Amino acid sequence: MTAVPLGSEGTQLASTGSASVRGRTVLIAGATSASGRAVARALLAAGARVVAVGSDQARLEALEADVPGVIGERADLTDADDVLELAMRVHARVGELDGVVHLVGGWRGGGGIPGQTEEDYRVVEHSFTALRHVSRAFWDDLLASTAGRITMVSSTTVEHPTAGGANYTAVKAASESWMRSLAQGFSKSGAPAAAVVFRVQALAGLEEQLAASVVELWNTDADASALNGTVTTLTP
Ligand SMILES: NC(=O)c1ccc[n+]([C@@H]2O[C@H](COP(=O)([O-])OP(=O)(O)OC[C@H]3O[C@@H](n4cnc5c(N)ncnc54)[C@H](OP(=O)(O)O)[C@@H]3O)[C@@H](O)[C@H]2O)c1
Repeated sequence: MTAVPLGSEGTQLASTGSASVRGRTVLIAGATSASGRAVARALLAAGARVVAVGSDQARLEALEADVPGVIGERADLTDADDVLELAMRVHARVGELDGVVHLVGGWRGGGGIPGQTEEDYRVVEHSFTALRHVSRAFWDDLLASTAGRITMVSSTTVEHPTAGGANYTAVKAASESWMRSLAQGFSKSGAPAAAVVFRVQALAGLEEQLAASVVELWNTDADASALNGTVTTLTP
């Protein structure tokens, strides 16, 4: 695992662990995939309260059955009104959040530059749209928390784009840019909050490492200011 300031090379995050995620409330945006399940399990095991959001009621119910203790909430995170209603329900149900783990994804690629269709772009940009909506809806929570954290999973292709993955990588680059803006907002406010990007080449097999890294965002002695704006590449 390497952790670097956004856009530059650096060293691994310090992590000696006296702070804690115990008792904190974390929302997983796009929680019903294998990575969402792993993150939910790890956060619950570490004593956090977990709100799991997905767009499909049946998949959410399956998650709630698989991962006891998780609080399921259905919302289309690409719909701004749906996200505002979600925020109202979450606040009424569990109060303010300490963290957001953004996992909404989607992949379409292939066919070089001519193959980067408008239809495929509209599908992959859902993850960026959801990130914008969710981070705006819960921004005040993250600022008010004594340890606000927001994180997303990006791709190593941001550093090494390909013609066949242009749509996807452009969306991930935009999402990372949005995360840098969140980081600047946290920094400017003086809040003990951090926006952190994880990059992977492929997530399969790295779900547990991702989950542990998410828990570590709280279970670390590193100040929020040291975490804020970092990019951590997870490798097998
Ligand atoms: N898989 C990889 O190899 C890889 C590589 C690099 C980066 N990443 C990134 O890692 C993250 C997690 O990847 P993944 O493969 O586990 O994710 P994924 O299969 O894309 O699914 C993420 C979750 O998002 C939910 N979702 C999709 N659209 C939604 C919407 N409109 N509203 C609410 N929820 C929605 C899905 O559930 P519902 O369909 O039930 O709503 C699912 O639970 C993504 O951001 C992805 O881009 C993955």
